[in-house]
Formats: sequence, structure tokens, C-alpha cells
Amino acid sequence: MSLDTVLNRIDEDLDAALERLMALLRIPSISTDPAYAADCDAAADWLVADLQSLGVDARKCPTPGHPMVMGTIDGPGPHLLFYGHYDVQPVDPLDLWDRDPFDPQIEDTPKGRVIRGRGAADDKGQLMTFIEACRAWKAVHGTLPCKITFFLEGEEESGSPSLVPFMTDHADALKADLALICDTGLFDSRVPAITTMLRGLLGEEITITGPTKDLHSGMYGGAAMNPIRVLARIIAALHDDSGRITVPGFYDGVPEISDELRAQWDGLGFDAARFLGDVGLSSPAGETGRSALEMIWSRPTCEVNGISGGYAGAGFKTVLPSKASAKISFRLVGDQDPHALRESFREMVRAMVPADCSVEFHGHGASKAGNFDTSAPAFEAARQALSDEWPDPAAYIGCGGSIPIAGHFLNIAETTPMLIGFGKDDDQIHSPNEKYDLESFHKGTRSWARVLDALTREAG
Ligand code: BES
Ligand code: ZN
Repeated sequence: MSLDTVLNRIDEDLDAALERLMALLRIPSISTDPAYAADCDAAADWLVADLQSLGVDARKCPTPGHPMVMGTIDGPGPHLLFYGHYDVQPVDPLDLWDRDPFDPQIEDTPKGRVIRGRGAADDKGQLMTFIEACRAWKAVHGTLPCKITFFLEGEEESGSPSLVPFMTDHADALKADLALICDTGLFDSRVPAITTMLRGLLGEEITITGPTKDLHSGMYGGAAMNPIRVLARIIAALHDDSGRITVPGFYDGVPEISDELRAQWDGLGFDAARFLGDVGLSSPAGETGRSALEMIWSRPTCEVNGISGGYAGAGFKTVLPSKASAKISFRLVGDQDPHALRESFREMVRAMVPADCSVEFHGHGASKAGNFDTSAPAFEAARQALSDEWPDPAAYIGCGGSIPIAGHFLNIAETTPMLIGFGKDDDQIHSPNEKYDLESFHKGTRSWARVLDALTREAG
């Protein structure tokens, strides 16, 4: 009876659960922008209060950046750790939103009902699926099925600067039988997933300086080196004609996937044409001879995420700028070493800077790829539990995004990460009009109840 009772409770409480999520979504906890520091703090306070209402001894733990939220609730079964992040990405460009990003709303769309607002999918909606499953369990049973430690971060979207020192200081408290992370997606709307591969990330910002000041491009153009021209040449040189990245040593540590994994991925029936078609594209832009699924899951990339310099406002201005800069990120796989690649990239760039120009570097995050072992019986138990909730059986999948903490759980807290999430490819995370399907939220909450039940049974 017990699991069904919890599932029914989740169904009955859905409207109230949505109200709670809306309250959290209204807090603009943009971690990368210091102007929103008080809002990050408010989101942490909100979560502390919500967890306390479940009987968790939750508290806000200060860091040099935004606070962590931590707390444990006792229970009989295994000790599970749950991780999610309460911070969100900036909302710009604001004019591309159809509504105020922090005034969330339920919308009817041709594909079903969605929760629209910044953070709905990444990651507030996802983290609340777990909390709501716990709430329902507690309401039905008076206790939780197992001991659970909650660990919620407020700096994930800005590279987690405080995370490693904090985890190192609290390694004992973070040690558990399993670390559940809810920040990934479904394979598709029928197929739930456990993510077993994440790409690493290396961020670099480069600024090229030419003349000491902005110049009239008629008066000086031709004689003065234009830093945008230098920057464009560098960016253009990062890929060759076959889509490979030209940074020396870049492919050191990049493995070929095993035949077994290739066969398993082939079996997923990934529809590359639809994946690209949904965003108005038709031909995969990565290395020649690779499938689109390989390009996003098992091959490394180099992307320019932003570029600035000169005049980009309305109208036209004949300026020859003093500076030009670009933000460039690399997604890493296998054993690629972010620190070695940072050096190699910088060296390559320095060699391309002509006389009279200089380059400055600003490094951002550096995390290795993760490849997680799923041989523990808990994985099969969780996979089965997910399969019970969704139309089709759950799959083990890769993920093109990066969640550095998954590796830290393993290395710092000696705890195996298990990544389960309910996002969809069209959630527009990090973009205008982010949404989370009501189905993701509802079935996601039900999925966690099933997973908690399965993991407790499996351990007992
Ligand atoms: N939730 C995402 C990771 C993700 C992306 C999962 C795509 C599933 C599909 C996470 O919040 C994120 O965006 N991470 C950043 C890395 C961070 C170090 C800035 C990313 O992947 O860019
Ligand atoms: Zn996220």
C-alpha cells in the first residue's frame, strides 16, 4: 500500500506543490550578478524554511560567495545525499522573453502545460521534485524511508567558486551511500534516464588590445592594427575544415567510445534530424564522420559564447576600437586535462598576436569530464523505479552539459553520484522563455518517490 499512498498524495497535493515552486521562482537568484546577492540569500532562506517544515535540521551555511543550504533528516534506510542548485542564469536578452522571467505562470501550449519562468527547469523545478516527493512521503508515513542529507548550492551557474573548499571542509557530513543529483534531463518525453557521462568545461576570456584608445577608422585605418581583426583571426583558427579543434594536444585523453556503448546508444534511436530541426537547423556542425549524438555526448568542443568590441549599437560608427574580447568555452571528455589545455590554448593565442597588440587572459571554470560507474545494484533498482513511472523503460545516457559536483562527490566525499532529472531538450534552459513541463514536475516528483522506495528496499 505504502508507495501507492505516497503517489496518490503527490497527485492530490500537486496544486499546492506548484504554488510552492512559484514562490521560489519569484526570487531572482541570479548568482553571477552581484546585484542579486540579496536575492540569492533570500532563496536560500526560503529553502531552509521549507526543509525545516519537513523536519530537516536545515541551515544556511555561509561561503565567500552565496550560501549553501544543508540539513539532514534521520530515517531507517540507507543514507542518501540530495544535491540541487537554487541559483539561476541571467535573463538577458530580456526583450526576447514573452513575460517577466520572475513572474512565473502556468501556460497551456500545443505540447502541453508548462511552468514558464527563469529557473523553472534549471534547477528550481527539478530540485523541488525531490523535496515534494519527500514532503508527500513524510505526510503519509510521518517519517522518510531513509536518512537524507540535503545539499543545495547557490553558485552552480557561476562556476561554483566556493564548492570545492566547502565540500572539503564538510567532507564527512557529505559522505553518504549515494549522491542523488537532480539537474539533468529525460532522454525524451517517453524515456526517463540516468545520466552516466558528463562533459567537463574549461572557460577562457581573452582580450586583445591594439591602440591605446579608440580611433577614427578613416584617420588611422590601414596603419593601425584593429584588435577585432586579430580576435577574428584567432577565433577562426580554433577549428579546421573538418571541425576538429586545433589547440595543440587538444585530443590527448579523448577516447573512442566502446563498441558496447555505441551499440547501446544506437539502440536509443536518437532522432538527430528532429533534434536539430526543432531549433531550425539541419546539419550537424561537429567533426566530419561523427554522429550528432557523439558530438553532444562523447566528443569535445570549442564554442565562442560571446564576443565584444567596437560599436554594436544602433546605426553606424566608423571606429577602430582599442580592445576586442571573446568568451570561449571548451567541453571536455574522457581524460582531457583542463589545466594543461588552458596553457596550450594561451600559448596558441599568444603566438597569433601581432606586433603592437597584446593579449590578456581571464580564466573561468576548469572541470574534468565525468564517467560514472553504474555497477552498484542501486542503479538497476533506480532504473526499474523510473521505468515504472514513464511510458518506456529508462535508459543510461550521456549529457553534453557539465555538472562538476558529480566528480567532486566521488573524489572529495567518496560517494557515488546518481544523476536523475526530468528536463527536456526544448526547456530553453539558460535562454529566454525557459520552461519546465508540468508533466516533468509531476511525474518527476512521482519518480523520486518510486526511486526512494526502490533504493530503500534494495539496501534493506
Ligand atoms: N543543468 C545544467 C547542466 C545540464 C545542461 C544538464 C544540459 C542537462 C542538459 C547546469 O546547471 C549547467 O548549466 N551547467 C553549466 C556548467 C557550469 C560550470 C557553468 C554548463 O553546463 O554550462
Ligand atoms: Zn543546472
